[in-house]
Amino acid sequence: MAILVTGGAGYIGSHTVLYLKEQGEDVIVLDNLSKGYSGALLGTLSYKGDIHDESILDEIFNTHKINSVIHFAASSLVGESVSYPLSYYENNVIGTHRLVKKMVEHDVKHIVFSSTAATYGEPNSIPIEETDPTIPTNPYGETKLAIEKLLKWSDQAYGLKSVCLRYFNAAGADPAGRIGEDHDPETHLIPIVLQAALGKRESIKIFGDDYDTDDGTCVRDYIHVMDLAQAHYLAVKKLQEGAASDVYNLGNGKGFSVNQVVETCKKVTGKTINAELAPRRMGDPAVLIASSEKAKRELGWTPQYQGLEVMVSHAWEWHQNNEDGFEK
Ligand code: UFG
Repeated sequence: MAILVTGGAGYIGSHTVLYLKEQGEDVIVLDNLSKGYSGALLGTLSYKGDIHDESILDEIFNTHKINSVIHFAASSLVGESVSYPLSYYENNVIGTHRLVKKMVEHDVKHIVFSSTAATYGEPNSIPIEETDPTIPTNPYGETKLAIEKLLKWSDQAYGLKSVCLRYFNAAGADPAGRIGEDHDPETHLIPIVLQAALGKRESIKIFGDDYDTDDGTCVRDYIHVMDLAQAHYLAVKKLQEGAASDVYNLGNGKGFSVNQVVETCKKVTGKTINAELAPRRMGDPAVLIASSEKAKRELGWTPQYQGLEVMVSHAWEWHQNNEDGFEK
């Protein structure tokens, strides 16, 4: 039996594919390569195509014995979602609707869904627990929450079991240096700072230093991409063993400010990084820190790479060896 990974050529998707293969799983990838790279697949059997394309979904489900899907394929930039909400609803919600419709038709009963901390919006209390209110402050978070609900109702109606994984800030890279993070354009803090360390940017911008935090810059909960990968594997296994549908946060429960991230990058790389203060970025909550006790307790999740330094070191190794990212 195989696992279908949609969006398996993207950052978190490709690391999960690698992890699944290392656990001996049979994996098939569907990716339209709009954001992902075939170089990130390391030879995994893949279909270049879109989750909107019902014929390619039929072909995959007819050709392979697939009993579970891990669903990453999505548009995932908060700022872009505010400018293009219709495109986000189309790619994320309508795309997932097609995928789930085909899963139901082909009697595929398990899905692990790549959700996000953005489903919570501005938190009422820290650390954030799964039972806290979900009031997204941008279309990206809204579309992910809409999909979580689509999955909930699909369980009730069709018996489709789902695990929704709400990640906080993914960071790091394959510890063996085979793959890493490559977005175009890059918007995420750590890769931007590392590009500056490589001399590919003159400076970085710090979006606001007047937040209600210790040093005034935003605080985030960074989680190693391979630890996220582990959680996807455990979630699939749990569903295959007959577990009920559920939702889990994935973070380290520890916050780092933007300034602390920049300092850690300076320390790891030994480079000078010029940082300039810029206005706040719209929609950034001051502090996002997860409680992941439920995932540890119920999935048996045990993050392996918890320090920010180790995440930055793995990312740095990949960026140094792949200055221009994957082959374009
Ligand atoms: N930041 C800067 N300068 C930059 C880039 C980022 O100061 O050049 C700051 C941001 O303002 C934020 C922090 O660094 O405070 C982290 O920003 P990222 O863009 O790296 O990550 P986000 O926290 O905005 O986004 C992440 C995921 C999203 C997810 C979101 C949940 O990438 O997919 O968490 O809120 F939706």
